[in-house]
Amino acid sequence: MSLIPYDHTTAAAYRTAREVPREGLVWWRAAVEPYVRGSELVVDVGAGTGAFATAFAEWFDVRVTAVDPSPAMRALIPAHPLVDVVAGTAESLPLADDAADAAWISTAIHHVTDLDAAARELRRVLCLGAPVLIRSVFPGRHEGVRLFRYFPEATRELSAFPTVERVCAAFADAGFERVLSLGLVPQQTAPSLRVAAERIRREADTVLRGLSDEEFAEGMNRMWASVAAEDHPAPVVDHLDLLVLC
Ligand SMILES: C[S@@+](CC[C@H](N)C(=O)[O-])C[C@H]1O[C@@H](n2cnc3c(N)ncnc32)[C@H](O)[C@@H]1O
Repeated sequence: MSLIPYDHTTAAAYRTAREVPREGLVWWRAAVEPYVRGSELVVDVGAGTGAFATAFAEWFDVRVTAVDPSPAMRALIPAHPLVDVVAGTAESLPLADDAADAAWISTAIHHVTDLDAAARELRRVLCLGAPVLIRSVFPGRHEGVRLFRYFPEATRELSAFPTVERVCAAFADAGFERVLSLGLVPQQTAPSLRVAAERIRREADTVLRGLSDEEFAEGMNRMWASVAAEDHPAPVVDHLDLLVLC
């Protein structure tokens, strides 16, 4: 898998290309609220540029520890009085035992090199009964992401992502035996297909980085052809999975 190095260039590209604007996250807010509201501390694992860490702080008035290994990504997390930004990985979290009462891992689970170690580490830092919320595109469950219609070869990279079954098994071994929920959650990724096409940054997307130059160019051509064919531009609504374990 062609993982992103997350240096300053790709961090800036990530912000442009991949952050879902806050107004596009209303369904995510509703989906996570039952698990997150009322928490003392939420740990955002692989927080990236902090889109969700700050959203959680503002939506639910909760403290968030945003953990990410990339200095360039952490540097883009907006300052917020409820958000602490710290260096770390899922496999080595800079938190005390039983420190947090929810964990959030958004489009970062495929970056975790040792899933079993990460699950054990989350068991250590979470209070008993605390949920782990995983937002991801899982292999075989990608149909709700429009990008794959234009770049069908991008599913090649997805096959290296951990499956729902693999994630559940790793977390069950670590003591998270219950699957509280698994389902697709919509989001408005972009206000129109034209904006989505303009925002694409190949370097900021693991599934696009693995394409050949030709595959990428053909996908962009398909996307621009769809833009040109649209009589009435409509928002781009994608569906990613939310897996909740405890
Ligand atoms: C696709 S970004 C997701 C950022 C953010 N969670 C979001 O949804 O916008 C993936 C992030 O995972 C981070 N990452 C890479 N390896 C990691 C690891 N082993 N543990 C935790 N995070 C990791 C990267 O630095 C990057 O910021």
